[in-house]
Amino acid sequence: MITLSHVSKYYTEGIPALNDVNIEIEEGEFVFIVGNSGSGKSTFLKLLTKELEPSQGVITVNGINLKKLRRRRIPMYRRNIGMVYQDFRLLKDRNVYENVAFAQRVIEMSPRQIKKDVPLMLSTVGLAAKYKSKPKELSGGEQQRVAIARALINKPKILLADEPTGNLDPDNAWDIMSLLDSINARGTTVVVVTHNMEIVKAMRKRVITLKKGVVIDDTKAGEWNA
Ligand SMILES: Nc1ncnc2c1ncn2[C@@H]1O[C@H](COP(=O)(O)OP(=O)(O)O)[C@@H](O)[C@H]1O
Ligand SMILES: [Mg+2]
Repeated sequence: MITLSHVSKYYTEGIPALNDVNIEIEEGEFVFIVGNSGSGKSTFLKLLTKELEPSQGVITVNGINLKKLRRRRIPMYRRNIGMVYQDFRLLKDRNVYENVAFAQRVIEMSPRQIKKDVPLMLSTVGLAAKYKSKPKELSGGEQQRVAIARALINKPKILLADEPTGNLDPDNAWDIMSLLDSINARGTTVVVVTHNMEIVKAMRKRVITLKKGVVIDDTKAGEWNA
C-alpha cells in the first residue's frame, strides 16, 4: 500500500536527505522508522503526505502515484492518512471534544455523525471522561491521546507518527505505543518514527533504519534483537 521506488530528496543540491530509498509497506503493517537525528525520517513521512515532492523516484500510496495526484485532490488524499507529532499540535483554546470534532467539521461531516463518532473515539483512546478538558489541563500522555483520536476520527487507512513519545515520560511512552499497537490490530497501517530503542526492541515489529538518508537495515517483525 506504500511503495517508494528509488526515491531521493535533495533540499540542497548535492546533499541528499534521502538517497535512493526503496521501501514497501503492506496494508495492515506496523513499522518503526529509526535512525539518528538528520537521517531523513521526517522527510520520509512528509513525502508520504505530499508535503514534499521527491527529487527522484516514484511513491505510490493506496494505489495512487503521488506525482500524478492533482493539487486539488490533495486534501481528499490526505483524509486517508492520520498524522501524529511529537508536540501534539492541539488547538489550545478548545476542549478535547472540539479538538477531535474539528477534524470532522473540516470535511463537513454531519453534526449527527460527529455526535456519534467523537465520544466513541474518545473512549477508544481512554479519554471519555475528559472530553470537556482543555489541552493545558491534560498530561502529555493525555494530550497525545487527543491527537491520536483526532488523527483517526475520519478513519484513515494509514497512521503516521513522527516521534509521538518524544515529549513523554517512559510510562506514558509505553501507553501511547500500546495504543498505536491496538489501533494497528484493528486494521490501520501504522508507521512510527522513534528514538525509543527500548520500546522498539520490546515490541518486535518491523524496523527500518535510516542513516544519512540511506536505508541501512530493514528487519522483519520478530527478528529484531540488536
Ligand atoms: N526544510 C529543509 N531545508 C533544508 N534542509 C532540510 C530541511 N528539512 C530537513 N533538512 C535536512 O535534511 C536532512 C534530513 O532531515 P529530517 O528528515 O528532518 O531528519 P530526521 O527527521 O531523521 O531528524 C537533515 O540533514 C536536515 O538538516
Ligand atoms: Mg525528524
